Amino acid sequence: MKFSTKTGAPQSLSTDALILGVFERGAQPTATAAVDTAGKGLIGRLLKQGDFNGKAGSTLVVRHPEGIKAARLVLVGLGNAAELTHKGWAQANRAAINAVLSTTATDAVNTLSSVALNDLSAAASVRQAVVLAGECAYRFNSFKTTPKPDAVTLKSLALLTETKATKAVSDAVAQGADIVAGMNLTRDLGNLPGNICTPTYLANEAKKLAKTFGLKCLILEKAAMEKLGMHSLLAVAKGSHQPPKFIVLEYNGGKKTEKPVVLVGKGITFDTGGISLKPAAEMDEMKYDMCGAASVLGTLRAVAGMKLPINLVVIVPTTENMPGGSATRPGDIVTSMSGQTIEILNTDAEGRLILCDALTYAERLKPAAVVDVATLTGACVVALGQVATGLLGNNDPLVNELRSAGTATMDRAWELPLWDDYQDLLKSPFADMANIGGRWGGTITAACFLSRFTKAYPWAHLDIAGTAWIQGKDKGATGRPVPLLTRFLMARAGKAD
Ligand code: BES
Ligand code: MN
Ligand code: ZN
Repeated sequence: MKFSTKTGAPQSLSTDALILGVFERGAQPTATAAVDTAGKGLIGRLLKQGDFNGKAGSTLVVRHPEGIKAARLVLVGLGNAAELTHKGWAQANRAAINAVLSTTATDAVNTLSSVALNDLSAAASVRQAVVLAGECAYRFNSFKTTPKPDAVTLKSLALLTETKATKAVSDAVAQGADIVAGMNLTRDLGNLPGNICTPTYLANEAKKLAKTFGLKCLILEKAAMEKLGMHSLLAVAKGSHQPPKFIVLEYNGGKKTEKPVVLVGKGITFDTGGISLKPAAEMDEMKYDMCGAASVLGTLRAVAGMKLPINLVVIVPTTENMPGGSATRPGDIVTSMSGQTIEILNTDAEGRLILCDALTYAERLKPAAVVDVATLTGACVVALGQVATGLLGNNDPLVNELRSAGTATMDRAWELPLWDDYQDLLKSPFADMANIGGRWGGTITAACFLSRFTKAYPWAHLDIAGTAWIQGKDKGATGRPVPLLTRFLMARAGKAD
């Protein structure tokens, strides 16, 4: 979909669908009032007659509205003006776009970004309106033969601004489009099944990104990983016929002397649990166990598209976790790249085993900060549900930056404690540490494990086990936490408003 800005009297815009916000009562948003006047009280009448009530999130499509140039009005309820929140505004955007998508409209104009919200600048509100529309218009139907169900006819969306868009606002639309492109990549990679999205597939995607955006791309094969001593990562790959890959992508938008931010994404393209085999129920969802990898690639896509003035390195350790004849056994001891030894008590705690070697590798990049993103623990879903991403780290300012980036984009993360007290749970009688910490506090003990490999730099960990995909009939990757990460990097680059 194409995104743009537009100015002009809303009643005179030639479009397939004009989105208007409607409050339950009282003064209406400027664009809505203008259309109501031009339409001789058309909206007021609908409200009065009860055909539409303006309740939050309700919608009504009015075809061929009299006195209005648009082919359709898409009215969306904003509820009570005094109670309109950032979240309510976002829900109104979603409801309106979904209503447009249920028609055959090929273009639309959205006036909602000019409904003022206290905590949102003009630039932020158009950027978010673009992201919300992109999210709603996403489809993953490449494996459906024709006719494609639920196909999208909408090709372009314009954001109406009251006066000619400032540079900040038109830049924000372009940034929104880049975030959408990044999220779409993340969602596509996540939704692809394990037989297609293999480590080799991810490596090829990285090469494609590098080619498109002129990035440096390094793919380490198994032999190179052996040389570096990545025996923890390799222990996970042992049960699979798919060759593991270690992907390093470098985007240099900042000054040469500036230290890079490093994003590390867990890339388990399928997690059977290995010899500690998972139960059958919902195991298909373990194709999403590379969503950390997909999200850091998606973030890189967004950042490169925006040409952010920042240096960014993305690292993706990727392998399958399969129970083959040469698979790692519970009780096996391996030496990680850091030199620390690990007793692998449970082969299903494999995410930390591939991440620890990637985190050690990250040291050589002399990073300003390292953030890893991983579908790491079921315990995180128990603790935070499918709303918040788990957030832990060894540096309070970094943790705070990530938390506020999440709040600003409604892609929220919540901190869990990384206190020393939990470290004892990882004790092993035979090696420097075990790879599991017992029944309780699973998200924290997983992060404790990682913290033993991140002492050289400011580090934070995002556990996206609950937020990377949706279950049930609308099963699919969400594209999270691309909005959070992009915002975090925009802020670091001095480009957040
Ligand atoms: N990929 C899983 C975590 C996961 C499970 C994410 C379910 C989303 C939904 C991870 O590799 C895993 O299996 N973790 C184990 C760790 C345990 C063995 C200490 C878990 O959470 O059960
Ligand atoms: Mn696992
Ligand atoms: Zn896993």
